[in-house]
Amino acid sequence: MDSNVRHERLRGVLIAGASRGIGRALVDSLLQRDDFDCLFAVARSWDDRTLSADPRVQLIESDLTADSARDSLAQTVSERCDQLDLVINTVGFLHEPGGQQPEKSLRQLNMAALQHSFAVNAGVPILLAQALLPLLRGHRHCVFASLSARVGSIGDNHLGGWYAYRASKAAQNMLMRTFAIEWRRLNRESICVLLHPGTTDTGLSAPFQTNVPEGKLFTARFVADRLLAVIDERSPADSGNFYAWDGQAIPW
Ligand SMILES: NC(=O)c1ccc[n+]([C@@H]2O[C@H](COP(=O)([O-])OP(=O)(O)OC[C@H]3O[C@@H](n4cnc5c(N)ncnc54)[C@H](OP(=O)(O)O)[C@@H]3O)[C@@H](O)[C@H]2O)c1
Repeated sequence: MDSNVRHERLRGVLIAGASRGIGRALVDSLLQRDDFDCLFAVARSWDDRTLSADPRVQLIESDLTADSARDSLAQTVSERCDQLDLVINTVGFLHEPGGQQPEKSLRQLNMAALQHSFAVNAGVPILLAQALLPLLRGHRHCVFASLSARVGSIGDNHLGGWYAYRASKAAQNMLMRTFAIEWRRLNRESICVLLHPGTTDTGLSAPFQTNVPEGKLFTARFVADRLLAVIDERSPADSGNFYAWDGQAIPW
């Protein structure tokens, strides 16, 4: 077994964007494990509350784009758990039915789309880290992972298009890399990573799956299991980097 693989028990785990897509699959995957005490599952709304039948799970409704919501999230978590050992942000935006769509050409770009994409894809993860920082302190193994996307890699951009999504994910990468440096000064065991899940069969990718090669469209559950394995294999020396679902490093 890899010497970096973590063995100690997790006290608190938080998944943001937990009600659907990859976030929900991460919760389902974690619930198969017995190595944590509390799981905070955060979503804008919880219509289906069946997950709360598991005493380890606390469902929290929070719109993480709002400053007051992030502050009260941190307060709610701290009332049950004094430290988080694993935080995974999956909140992300590409398109909405009948509304904003990824741009095929520069003509389609506008300020409102840029602002919305940057708020959700770049603002939420870094300001979530800010709100939760008091729960991430101490000299101990602690992971903050946030879902990015390979299309946010500047070096890997050979196709163009999707201006707002690409740029907002690139901005997230820079913000989280910067956080990784500051956090390391507070906790030398901290690990902050960006993760690319691969093309995953969720609402986010649904309109864009036509040209995905055979075998390259993953189920959310497969991806969740892979991302948790990639996280478990990371050590503090990996903090501030960007990894794909298969553990390969992705260029900025
Ligand atoms: N699926 C893919 O192929 C793929 C590929 C590369 C990267 N990713 C990234 O992986 C992450 C998860 O994607 P997914 O495929 O699971 O997508 P999804 O099923 O569309 O889930 C997106 C999540 O983001 C939340 N969200 C979206 N807009 C929001 C807003 N304005 N405020 C607060 N929360 C908001 C959603 O919450 P609500 O339920 O409240 O709307 C949902 O939990 C995203 O960051 C995405 O960019 C996905």
